[in-house]
Amino acid sequence: MGDGSTGGFTTRQVHAGTRAPAASPRALPIHLTAGFTFDSFDDAASHFGSGDGFGYTRTGNPTVTAVEDKLASLEGGAQALLLASGQAAVAVALLGLVSAGQHVVSSTHIYEGTRGLLLDNLSRFGVTVDFVDDIGDPAAWRAAIRPTTRVLFAESIANARNDVLDIAAVAAVGEEHGIPLIIDNTFATPYLLRPIAHGAAVVVHSASKFLAGQGAVLGGVIVDSGRFDGGRDGALFPQLTEPPRGGGPSLWERHGGSARIAYLRESIAPRFGPTPSPLNAFFIGQGIETLSLRVQRQSENALALARWLEAHPAIASVDYAGLASHPTYDTARRYLQDGYGSVFAFTLRDGLPAARTVVESVQVFTHMTHLGDVRSLVLHPASTSHSHRTEDERLALGVHPGTLRVSIGIEDVADLRADLSRALDAVTAAPRTVEHERVA
Ligand SMILES: Cc1ncc(COP(=O)(O)O)c(C=O)c1O
Repeated sequence: MGDGSTGGFTTRQVHAGTRAPAASPRALPIHLTAGFTFDSFDDAASHFGSGDGFGYTRTGNPTVTAVEDKLASLEGGAQALLLASGQAAVAVALLGLVSAGQHVVSSTHIYEGTRGLLLDNLSRFGVTVDFVDDIGDPAAWRAAIRPTTRVLFAESIANARNDVLDIAAVAAVGEEHGIPLIIDNTFATPYLLRPIAHGAAVVVHSASKFLAGQGAVLGGVIVDSGRFDGGRDGALFPQLTEPPRGGGPSLWERHGGSARIAYLRESIAPRFGPTPSPLNAFFIGQGIETLSLRVQRQSENALALARWLEAHPAIASVDYAGLASHPTYDTARRYLQDGYGSVFAFTLRDGLPAARTVVESVQVFTHMTHLGDVRSLVLHPASTSHSHRTEDERLALGVHPGTLRVSIGIEDVADLRADLSRALDAVTAAPRTVEHERVA
């Protein structure tokens, strides 16, 4: 059909004008296409044989690749894999490492979706999990490891108590057994903390949060250190070191230290299928271009507000790692040298009714379940994100009836303080009540 300008009306409406003229766009081009044409018969065979080049967006897309390269660079990893959501990133990272009959050791202080994945979903495939409560104690991690353990999992800054993990100490425990540490670095972002430099093997993110930054799209990413050692740890991960089903060299032989992420890219992600849209990849790439500026500003705003809240008479406690009163303040100072992040929790003296009043009184803060947005956000964890936990579990996690979680945005801090001040005045003005203290 040549350039597509010949043929009948219907043929031309499909084929004419589909070749964009060559140009050098400054912004990342959005390759919004299900697949890519092959230049030749041999080109197609070679793509299916080696996986090189682009054939179908589920197995690779240039817009997605560009964003992956950006994230691998920022996290100081060897390679990255972009996925449709943060939840997909966590699931794919775990599916690449654990098989039926094997075991995960995880921090208790993790995102509820990850906890549910381990307890309700992976359990159905014969994967068991043990949770470590005292995540600051390497001995507690060591004690939870079994011969079948294949992953240690934790968050760099944990929701809701804001505990900062001593990544090097936990990674070292994993190293003793050849077990990789996966760090969910969503709350810290690579601007504030790069877990791979501290010994983590794999980093995951909900890119829907700070990386995208605008709250417009979902995405997730896995970044691998590239330090897999098949010679030393291959027996634990035969999927990486044994020949594939059809014979030929193993992933370890083909990709060396990057065998782990090659397995996710070639086998787990395309088969389970949580492919990111190239359009969403573009938005995430755009967001990352301003990451440091946003996170710096958000961290400054958060620290100012946390200090102000801590001194406010209506507030019982503030869980922010940037405050000297926080149990992991010393760890935070070691790991977070450019700011302490934007998400923290505070607890109102007057409990649930006061929390309700604040949520219903704020005007600049947005009431929603999200974080890492340019806008400031507020949520009542006990009745929302943590409502499926028992009351005792919630208390252990620092989630009280009067606890609110905030994600501080880039707005002028004076406006945020005035908004909270107005809401706290409404608490003081309301008649004091302790009824409905228990959250269902
Ligand atoms: C720490 C953390 N990890 C993972 C996720 C899941 O990410 P997503 O919502 O992009 O699937 C979230 C979502 O809130 C999160 O907070």
